[in-house]
Amino acid sequence: MDAGTLLPILAGIHVVTVLMWIGGVGFVTVVVFPMLLRMDDTLEMVLMFHRMENRFARHAKVYIWIVGITGFLMLYLEGRFAGLWSMDNLGILVMIGAWAFYLLVLTFEKKIFGIVFGKPEEMDGKKVFKFLTGFHWVVLGVSLLAVFLGVWQAHGGLLSP
Ligand code: HEM
Repeated sequence: MDAGTLLPILAGIHVVTVLMWIGGVGFVTVVVFPMLLRMDDTLEMVLMFHRMENRFARHAKVYIWIVGITGFLMLYLEGRFAGLWSMDNLGILVMIGAWAFYLLVLTFEKKIFGIVFGKPEEMDGKKVFKFLTGFHWVVLGVSLLAVFLGVWQAHGGLLSP
């Protein structure tokens, strides 16, 4: 299969996987966290969060590899590694930054949760979940920025004259 045939297929797989992945992050941020914040029992909140996040993290680990492999393959086939550090590739650079950040969080997920939920019976559930909601909004914001800049630049929006 030549690059001309392969590239649009890779782009399709890339974007569909991004949709499942970032769509999931959006759902958790916009729907699940406000629901959790309305619960009164901290232990119940933590258990519910763990069950949901565990399941989603398993899916996200698959998405992250599909998005990374298709993304880097597209760059390789287009011979775009040289000159990647330019404002013309801002969309791709934000994508790679967001991707690397997710990879880091998913790799150290257990350690991070251990710190955040050390002793659920002693913690202030509302405070922790408010912090987690804020954190998810920031991550979602960066992800949506990557989507916006990626689409914008791929469709002729350029930063440099
Ligand atoms: C290792 C990480 C990634 C790499 C190397 C990468 C690379 C690419 C490449 C080469 C394209 C083709 C468009 C173009 O040539 O400008 C693309 C498209 C796209 N990427 Fe990524 N990407 C990565 C991660 C992500 C992430 C994390 C997101 C979303 C949060 C994302 C969202 C998109 C979108 C929406 C498009 C479609 C742009 C369009 O053609 O309209 N990518 N990506």
